[in-house]
Amino acid sequence: MNDTMTATTITQQLHTGTKMPAIGLGTWQIRGSVRQAVEAAIAAGYRMIDTSGDYGSQPGIGEALISNGIPREDVFIVSKIEEHDDAYEATMKNLAELQLDYVDLMLIHRPAETDEMNEALWRGLITACHEGKIRDIGVSNFSEAQIQSLIDRTGVKPVVNQIEWSPFGWDSAMDTYCAEKGIIIQSYSPLTRAERLHDSMIMGIADIYHKTPSQILLRWNVQHGWVPLPKSDNPAHIRENIDIFDFKLDKKDMVAIDAMNESFSALAEQPIYQLNRREETHMRYRQLIKAVQQYSGFSDAESKDALEGAVATIAIHLTEGERKDFASQLPRELQDLALAVYPSEENSNQDLFEQFIEVQAVDESRAKKQLLSAWRALKDALSPGQIDHIRGQLSDRTAKFLH
Ligand SMILES: NC(=O)c1ccc[n+]([C@@H]2O[C@H](COP(=O)([O-])OP(=O)(O)OC[C@H]3O[C@@H](n4cnc5c(N)ncnc54)[C@H](OP(=O)(O)O)[C@@H]3O)[C@@H](O)[C@H]2O)c1
Repeated sequence: MNDTMTATTITQQLHTGTKMPAIGLGTWQIRGSVRQAVEAAIAAGYRMIDTSGDYGSQPGIGEALISNGIPREDVFIVSKIEEHDDAYEATMKNLAELQLDYVDLMLIHRPAETDEMNEALWRGLITACHEGKIRDIGVSNFSEAQIQSLIDRTGVKPVVNQIEWSPFGWDSAMDTYCAEKGIIIQSYSPLTRAERLHDSMIMGIADIYHKTPSQILLRWNVQHGWVPLPKSDNPAHIRENIDIFDFKLDKKDMVAIDAMNESFSALAEQPIYQLNRREETHMRYRQLIKAVQQYSGFSDAESKDALEGAVATIAIHLTEGERKDFASQLPRELQDLALAVYPSEENSNQDLFEQFIEVQAVDESRAKKQLLSAWRALKDALSPGQIDHIRGQLSDRTAKFLH
């Protein structure tokens, strides 16, 4: 970013080559006139407006663009379709409400229930894109796995993931994933919906720079390369929120602000993409238990017990690094278990099957059935390299029945 540029001209480049303004106005729950808020924003230098089919703000945005007379190509309009919509039809409806021929960016507002449904939404947006109704397409509230599934299924990568993001709730794993894929994070509720603007540390940093807490939160975003979408319908706040390009937070303050993360969400118990992640990992866990059940005919409780016993016993036989790799391929519910074991020389030299019998406190034939069914389920979830590695740790006797 070139700091000599003005708020109006500073942009981020999407992976498609399009330039997107570095900050935008949010328009969810504007209480007064949307038209006036958007006019005030354009006058203050904003060139991106965020809306959605379900915000009710599209007509006011359309009116403001007409009354202001700003050339269409000078503004960047972001809208969203809903997870239960027909994506193409919803796009047309949004365009009609906005009185526009195209939007710059259309997002899937929230992931639908299944990857198949997300794919159908995505393909609808791709069609609208080919017809010139949309310039770029992206997602909102998606976890990494949900984004990856869209890419794997269609070969088309979202340009942004719009997610709840502030110093109090951000996520380095999501940041790394998006950076690797060239996906830009658009930060929604970047001002924590005004819930944390009185935080003493943020207020202290704001004093040092002679700025306001809101400006510190927004500057932290742009300095990281994330694109905040502060909402306001107060003209003074609208101006204040874009007045963030004449100062720079130093490294020490950036690091201190980074460290404030506590998975805060102003909308839910955790940011929604994190809840989606939790949901996915829980589904994988349930699938593993179900697989044990199918292989063995055990009850749900015994299948869970067999799986947990197998994970703990296998983990004992791995070195610390191997154990971390093993854990990383498991759902969250089993990761802690795999990482919590403390192998001693004695127990890691013991035969895995003997150990499993001890841990499970069942007779040998029951233990054999438990371990075999748990192993079969785990084999479907682990990488071939990991499976070979675990096999290499087994005694001949155990290796013989864990085929
Ligand atoms: N994709 C999604 O699922 C999703 C979800 C939520 C939000 N969003 C988008 O992100 C935008 C922003 O998020 P948000 O509306 O949830 O919350 P936000 O921008 O974090 O906070 C808005 C609140 O902060 C206040 N505020 C704004 N500037 C201020 C300032 N300088 N000083 C003090 N208070 C200030 C506003 O009041 P005043 O209006 O009185 O200034 C309002 O109460 C939304 O409008 C929407 O466009 C997207």
